[in-house]
Amino acid sequence: MKLSQARRDFYRRKAKEEGYKSRAAYKLIELVKRYGLIKAGDYVIDFGCAPGGWLQVASKYVGSKGKVFGFDIKAVDINLSNVYTYVLDISSPDALDFVKKSVLGEADVILSDLSPNISGVWEIDHAKQVDLTLKVIEMLPHLLKPGGNCLLKVFQGQYLDLVRNRLNRIFDKVYLTKPSASRKESSELYFVCISYIG
Ligand SMILES: C[S@@+](CC[C@H](N)C(=O)[O-])C[C@H]1O[C@@H](n2cnc3c(N)ncnc32)[C@H](O)[C@@H]1O
Repeated sequence: MKLSQARRDFYRRKAKEEGYKSRAAYKLIELVKRYGLIKAGDYVIDFGCAPGGWLQVASKYVGSKGKVFGFDIKAVDINLSNVYTYVLDISSPDALDFVKKSVLGEADVILSDLSPNISGVWEIDHAKQVDLTLKVIEMLPHLLKPGGNCLLKVFQGQYLDLVRNRLNRIFDKVYLTKPSASRKESSELYFVCISYIG
């Protein structure tokens, strides 16, 4: 068995044992531990939240005084008292209004693990993924508190620097990283953005 396959199986088994809905949960745990992205009492928005691993992790970090609002094209089956989920296509023209009405107020943290259906053609998948990420970035002025944090998945490719440049202009610090639970052969990376300037 290849090392990458073994690692994938390790996280899948661990997620099953520990009751997480996806092994993606471990990516968020690692990044929150390393960068302190989420704290108790925070309001968190999670775009592309299905099946709900990140919702479970964020729910634990924000605790009983915080809230987590998840949005995805797919419905999510989750029952946690501080988590609220909504079915939404982030590309739809009324997406921002819908999110604003659902969240009621600005968030402390915005997460995006958005990923399009993968065609297997690198350039197309990259362009589609960046398009989803830019939709989230465009919403930030309406949804994120000044001083808030953001975590964005992005696929590697020609538009990566475009995304990085936009983020550098609106956050105090921006890091590009790949958590160990992310498959080595996958092109996904994460922008960790600290302290929104606006
Ligand atoms: C990698 S999964 C997210 C996994 C999640 N973070 C977890 O921990 O379980 C990516 C998600 O993006 C969602 N997605 C893709 N395009 C979308 C769109 N236009 N609007 C909303 N969600 C979308 C998919 O339905 C999918 O559930």
